[in-house]
Amino acid sequence: MRLLLVADLHYSLPQLDWVVNTADNFDVVVMAGDHLDVSSIVDGRAQSVVVRKYFSKLDSRTQLLICSGNHDLDAKNESGERIAKWLRGVEGARVVSDGQSFAFEDTLFTACPWWDGPIVRAAIGDQLAEASARRTGRWIWIHHAPPAKSPTSWGGDRYFGDVELREWIERYRPDMVLSGHVHQSPFTKDGSWVDRIGSTWVFNAGQQFGAPPTHVIIDTDEKVALWFSATGNQFVRLDEPLERPVPPLEAPPGWLKVADRPPLPGQI
Ligand SMILES: [Fe+2]
Repeated sequence: MRLLLVADLHYSLPQLDWVVNTADNFDVVVMAGDHLDVSSIVDGRAQSVVVRKYFSKLDSRTQLLICSGNHDLDAKNESGERIAKWLRGVEGARVVSDGQSFAFEDTLFTACPWWDGPIVRAAIGDQLAEASARRTGRWIWIHHAPPAKSPTSWGGDRYFGDVELREWIERYRPDMVLSGHVHQSPFTKDGSWVDRIGSTWVFNAGQQFGAPPTHVIIDTDEKVALWFSATGNQFVRLDEPLERPVPPLEAPPGWLKVADRPPLPGQI
């Protein structure tokens, strides 16, 4: 299975176009929250209409999995907690979104909503408990915020991660957690796009302006995860312990199609 992870596109149309144009190179595309941008001059409802059209385009090309981020909240539940109502029932039968789990080959994916209070937080706990009973092979979570006390949630002077998520990871030990939220983590001293909590791999691609977005490519057959950014590219082998500093990716591996390959530094 070859998977593309992006997050925090924040209504960047060039980045959304890039994801659509590269999507059919991947079995699964994960967009881990903050599809919209609350500070945009474009009205939030208009943004959501446009982004849903991108979801429909992606749905025709690949298996799309999404979750909500803190910029995506457009409604409140009965308890007054903010939720991303527009992401529920996204057009396109194959799109997996907040609150859903989905089996793809030997992998179970679980898409968690952004939680804004105890009701949704408890619902995620229930969701993970139910999904854990279904788990037979690989289990991958999609959760906008990365876990607490991880380089993937390091903002340069403190951690911005989710304490509950870290406890859930330690309890259920999923194989991977795909996140975003803390844009600068991969680019700060002591921060990173990758971490390991016990046996769980954690990824946060980070955020940069313009296309392509920072992104992580995970190939479970090749057993590697590759991180691409304007500041350089790195990789980890999924069948080996995480080493720091994370080694640079000197050249894209041969199995990546030319279309997948962003220019390496110096090739732009
Ligand atoms: Fe964000």
